[in-house]
Amino acid sequence: MSASRATLLFALAGLAAALGLAYCQVGSVSSEAGTRSELELADGGMPGRLDAAVAFYASRPLHERTRPPLPVPAGLPDLSARTCGACHVEIYQEWLASTHRHAWLDDAQFQAELDKNRHGAPYRTPEGARRGDTSWICVRCHTPLSDQQPELVVGLHDERVDRPRYAENPRYDADLQEEAITCAVCHVRDDGVILGPYGDTNAPHPVAKSENLLNSQVCLDCHQAEVRYGDAGLLCAFSTGREWQASTYATDGQGCPSCHMPEVERPLATDHPPRMTRRHWLGGSLIPKRPDLESQVAPLRAVYGSGVDVSLRRQDAAIELVVTNTRAGHNVPTGDPERYLLVRAEALDAQGRVVAQTELRIGTVYDWTPPPHLVSDNRVAPGQERVASLGAARGAVEVRVLGDKFRIGQEAFDYHDLAGRYVAGRGFHRSTWSVSGSELVETSLVDDLHPASTQAADAGLRPGPSDSPASDSPADGSGNDARPHGAP
Ligand code: HEC
Ligand code: HEC
Ligand code: HEC
Ligand code: HEC
Ligand code: HEC
Repeated sequence: MSASRATLLFALAGLAAALGLAYCQVGSVSSEAGTRSELELADGGMPGRLDAAVAFYASRPLHERTRPPLPVPAGLPDLSARTCGACHVEIYQEWLASTHRHAWLDDAQFQAELDKNRHGAPYRTPEGARRGDTSWICVRCHTPLSDQQPELVVGLHDERVDRPRYAENPRYDADLQEEAITCAVCHVRDDGVILGPYGDTNAPHPVAKSENLLNSQVCLDCHQAEVRYGDAGLLCAFSTGREWQASTYATDGQGCPSCHMPEVERPLATDHPPRMTRRHWLGGSLIPKRPDLESQVAPLRAVYGSGVDVSLRRQDAAIELVVTNTRAGHNVPTGDPERYLLVRAEALDAQGRVVAQTELRIGTVYDWTPPPHLVSDNRVAPGQERVASLGAARGAVEVRVLGDKFRIGQEAFDYHDLAGRYVAGRGFHRSTWSVSGSELVETSLVDDLHPASTQAADAGLRPGPSDSPASDSPADGSGNDARPHGAP
């Protein structure tokens, strides 16, 4: 990728439009753009329609290509994860907890964004122009299989990506759609053979050894897409692949699965011998998609941990707050441009008075007023650090440090009315330090906080709610939608 592509400009209709958008961003301002209700459904018999759709997707760039219809592997009744799960019980349970499983109906932010340009929603920009329909591109990564689409695209009006011609999909499978990034996405190709690491197992379905399954390209198919469609106002900004390629992890042969799919020896199917297998949790930020999914995600935090270390150090007389990317094979944060970390430190004297404070906000910032542009990007690349100074300590102080991470800012969270349906972020670090003279000692550390500690810290950096285990994982999920105070 060239350097200019690294600094992406976001084409958006304006502030109001921008608020609703995540990172494959839509903001068409064309007054001619059609909406779905105005677009005729293409005619033609079932094979004709499928052929036309297959031909259309094949003609498009990779990140727009919904997969061609897959044959059901011999010996299996269908392609659903539930079917695989009857034999691959543990792997299925792990996948159920993954964000991949929750990339469709469980993602309230995604659904809100999708709805804006689907179904001919009469969405209008402040200029009175109407948004086109680019939702067919969004579903390409969130529900990538042909059978997961109620309608397939068979062509474009006027060659515009926001004016798709749809045809009803005779093979549409609503249950499969609900499974989002299901087993078949990574394991089945168009020959109906199941790809695996061995290729010689005693399986009741055809298998083939895939050298490529562990190759990060399987992941980059969706996690690397930097595209801008000027006239449709659509912008994809996934650079995780490029960030990883630039790191020593890539040159040392550590791909995405090495960190996100840890190895474990166990039977891969019930009543079969133990083998070296991989966990299918695919843990990342470990922010649950919905408040009630916290109990699924909580145990994974001990497995994956955080990508960054947060610490204090002395720089001459001053105390510095340091955030280092020690464990992530790409920027922290990565993926969604709305993601950010907020790490704050506060020094208190013996009387408990705040004598110094500092804050690091780590992420990208965009100015959404036309022409929208990237204002800053201080995400931390592998091995790098970000530093903020607390100034010189006078006398003995106690320093309290809090770290939170967010997938969405408060403004967009409120705009989509996501309270109770979506989780904006969580705390990932809290420590206290005792500083006196040249001594600097960490006196306590908690690195698995939930919900975001900032929610309980409106009055300052007092200990967060996770002091009590009960409020660590609130049963009713209340407070999980915490956002930082001071956010716009
Ligand atoms: C078919 C597209 C696709 C493929 C292939 C894919 N992903 Fe994903 N991945 C997604 C989407 C979409 C999401 C986000 C879903 C959401 O948030 O609604 C996601 C989420 C994730 C997350 C969780 C992010 C979080 O903080 O919760 C991780 C980690 C991840 N993917 C890693 C991988 C790895 C590693 C691979 C390869 C083994 C991979 N993905 C393959 C589309 C894909
Ligand atoms: C090229 C593949 C691709 C396309 C196309 C795509 N997404 Fe995604 N989407 C992803 C991946 C990968 C992630 C996970 C990365 C992350 O969570 O940071 C994701 C995550 C998301 C999330 C969750 C963000 C978060 O931080 O949890 C939302 C919301 C979303 N996408 C909306 C959309 C919308 C709306 C569109 C269409 C305009 C779209 N996506 C198109 C790949 C894609
Ligand atoms: C009726 C039980 C059953 C069902 C259903 C099933 N599998 Fe299997 N699968 C097995 C058995 C048994 C093995 C071989 C176990 C062994 O030898 O250790 C296997 C092996 C595999 C392998 C490893 C292949 C290799 O040799 O490298 C993969 C990958 C796999 N299955 C994926 C799937 C997927 C994906 C589905 C659903 C689309 C599925 N399986 C459905 C029983 C099943
Ligand atoms: C995002 C891609 C992805 C998805 C989705 C996915 N897998 Fe896998 N799977 C992999 C990778 C990568 C490997 C490891 C291959 C290797 O070790 O060479 C793997 C390995 C396996 C194996 C072989 C044993 C092992 O763990 O190495 C089985 C069996 C399997 N998967 C079943 C499933 C089932 C069942 C589902 C759905 C419930 C599923 N997978 C979903 C990517 C995926
Ligand atoms: C060296 C280990 C390592 C490698 C290699 C790695 N990751 Fe990650 N990844 C992490 C860690 C650790 C986090 C958690 C970062 C955090 O939030 O603290 C993470 C987080 C993520 C997230 C969630 C977004 C976020 O900012 O938290 C996604 C999506 C993701 N990784 C995808 C990938 C993909 C795709 C690849 C391959 C191109 C990959 N990762 C390679 C360790 C790794």
